[in-house]
Amino acid sequence: MHVTVYSTRLYDRQALERSPGFGGHSFNFLEARLDASTVATAAGAEAVCVFVNDQLDHKVLQALYTLGVRLVVLRCAGFNQVDLVAAQALGMAVCRVPEYSPHAVAEHTLALLLTLNRKIHRAYARVREGNFALDGLLGFDMHGRTVGVVGTGRIGETFCRLMTGFGCTLLATDPTPNPACIAMGVQYVPLPELLARSDVVSLHCPLTPHTHHLINADAFAGMKRGAMLLNTSRGAVVDTQAAITALKARTLGSLGLDVYEEEGGLFFRDLSGAGIQDDVFARLLTFPNVVVTGHQGFFTEDALAAIASTTLANLNAFAATGKPLYPVSV
Ligand code: NAI
Repeated sequence: MHVTVYSTRLYDRQALERSPGFGGHSFNFLEARLDASTVATAAGAEAVCVFVNDQLDHKVLQALYTLGVRLVVLRCAGFNQVDLVAAQALGMAVCRVPEYSPHAVAEHTLALLLTLNRKIHRAYARVREGNFALDGLLGFDMHGRTVGVVGTGRIGETFCRLMTGFGCTLLATDPTPNPACIAMGVQYVPLPELLARSDVVSLHCPLTPHTHHLINADAFAGMKRGAMLLNTSRGAVVDTQAAITALKARTLGSLGLDVYEEEGGLFFRDLSGAGIQDDVFARLLTFPNVVVTGHQGFFTEDALAAIASTTLANLNAFAATGKPLYPVSV
């Protein structure tokens, strides 16, 4: 199949090229994001291969269909960036990589947690300046603390497993409780109770109309004073303005983000020479108790290899049967 690949970085291309079966399709690798302004570059392709910040709204999907594209291959698990209703109405197939490495994201969440708790980001800078004072670096033992996990699917379950190793009490909320989590002692409670009791709250639910701004001003008001919030799911699950208000009021103890609701204009690019235009994001970076990474939770060797092989498996299945291996439907 002819495939146009959007938002390509060198590592995406290398992972696909190294994957067995790469030669069975022809790829046109583009650095550009797919949106209404770039969609014409899909001319001649039967499939487009996209990532988290490509925009596949109704207009873009209609334009892709007119160009002859019949398959959208996501190289990610989340699919909030695709108008699935429009894709279905057009008869276009959409597929994703449902599972590549829950460990990659769960372990990155743990990295954010420990960085914030033990102030590693501040200690790193201090020691390099020859400043060995400990004032301001005080942390707390994770052992015996309560961790609340919102969404206990593949990543949430893996994160729970990591936290049991620390001897934490685990609370969770999920419309579909996970038996593996219950077996490891996780207690399912409603979200308000989870927020009120947890020292650390970690978000692992998908972005849907129900979870958009799930953590808003009311949710922050219901959190334990001084608690930590971690978001490695999707940016818009958290109302960023409400987070800034809670940080300024010092009710929110610390914030670790791998995702941001307006990350499309920022992440996966080097803007170090250009400056940041987004004032809300820039404000977040001024807090010493905020650590932000640029959507790198998935970024391990293992995950990239798994994403590439599942992407090829989706393409192979569609080429052979007209159906991808891991379809996403409405
Ligand atoms: P999953 O589909 O296995 O699990 C999601 C869980 O969230 C399910 O158990 C579901 O029932 C639950 N859920 C749905 N609505 C909820 C709500 N209102 N409250 C609480 N729980 C709710 O998905 P997986 O693989 O664990 O991924 C979770 C999310 O992580 C993805 O949707 C994606 O947005 C994000 N992600 C982030 C990455 C990164 O690099 N930072 C990489 C991969 C995924």
